Amino acid sequence: MILVTGGAGFIGANFVLDWTRQSDEAVLNIDKLTYAGNLGTLKPLQDNPAHVFARVDICDRAALDALFTQYKPRAVLHFAAESHVDRSIHGPGDFIQTNMVGTFTLLEAARHHWSTLPQAQKDAFRFLHVSTDEVFGSLAPADPAFSEITPYAPNSPYSASKAGSDHLVRAWHHTYGLPVLTTNCSNNYGPYQFPEKLIPLMIASALGGKQLPIYGDGQNVRDWLYVGDHCSAIREVLARGTPGETYNVGGWNEKKNLDVVHTLCDLLDEMRPKAAGSYRDQITYVKDRPGHDRRYAIDARKLERDLGWKPAETFETGLAKTVRWYLENQTWVDEVASGDYRKWVEINYMQRV
Ligand code: NAD
Ligand code: TYD
Repeated sequence: MILVTGGAGFIGANFVLDWTRQSDEAVLNIDKLTYAGNLGTLKPLQDNPAHVFARVDICDRAALDALFTQYKPRAVLHFAAESHVDRSIHGPGDFIQTNMVGTFTLLEAARHHWSTLPQAQKDAFRFLHVSTDEVFGSLAPADPAFSEITPYAPNSPYSASKAGSDHLVRAWHHTYGLPVLTTNCSNNYGPYQFPEKLIPLMIASALGGKQLPIYGDGQNVRDWLYVGDHCSAIREVLARGTPGETYNVGGWNEKKNLDVVHTLCDLLDEMRPKAAGSYRDQITYVKDRPGHDRRYAIDARKLERDLGWKPAETFETGLAKTVRWYLENQTWVDEVASGDYRKWVEINYMQRV
């Protein structure tokens, strides 16, 4: 069995759904179900005995120990985190708690379990930590993309808390010998992403006739990775990555935010035309995010060279799939856009006008 943390969130749920389609190996899925966790995403697994869900906070050591003892997983895939930069600016405490204290607690529970295993199982055990390219800071336009040896320079409470968790994972390998793997990936997009992040927010707002808020001048660059490609990279790293190594995962898709939103509007104009005009008419410029990183770009050559992984989707194919998914799954969006979500939209965007 494998243990997945944060498997009711965007990437974790995509990973669990892909895994259960491709493997007979069972999944123990633990998630606290914060605002970002949604069991509705896991509905297709309702009657699947190969999926076990436990509502647990990764900061709860006793609950983690009990699950490790009962299920004896051969690997941990650690997705659980507070993941939204804007929320980390408004309230950094939860980020320190889950991303740092939670990762520490999970590492300790995994180390305890690992230390009890017979030698062959100990050698085969893996702790795969899912991290972000944001730990490397911000690039100037002509800088080379982030590689695995780029120094850490996190700029937001979110990226600082993820950087801290990466350092803990590294130290648990060097000090205790825990067989860890770390992946640092770029901005993901695809089905089941919470509509607080750029792409799903813009799709939902466009369809709802609302404004499309571009922070600052819209020239910030992100490197976009289709979530299905991220999941396939993680499966490769888990199967064949070298313990102690880190792997950058990217889609080779550097885009300016404004270009992303223009492309989205064009796709929507084609797939769900408005009665009059274009979705582009809804674009509006709002006050910038404090400390907004200008550019992220991932050099994913190590993953290709060492493990033969390459993304299957281009930005155009991935984005078209994503827009189609949101058009066909409006009820999923309506379900997650609860009262709490509306409160967040008020807090974040009222301060930008
Ligand atoms: P998400 O916010 O959609 O989901 C996070 C999940 O973790 C939720 O289901 C939430 O309920 C759960 N969770 C939060 N705190 C928890 C706790 N204390 N205990 C147990 N569960 C808890 O995040 P995501 O976009 O799916 O990101 C997954 C991972 O990938 C994160 O570690 C994130 O830092 C990393 N990452 C994401 C992106 C991206 O573009 N989304 C890019 C790079 C890295
Ligand atoms: P986001 O999806 O929050 O990811 P991250 O900040 O982790 O890269 O944002 C992606 C980019 O889009 C980022 O440069 C901020 C920008 N952005 C907007 O311009 N408007 C918005 O409403 C949001 C949510 C993001």
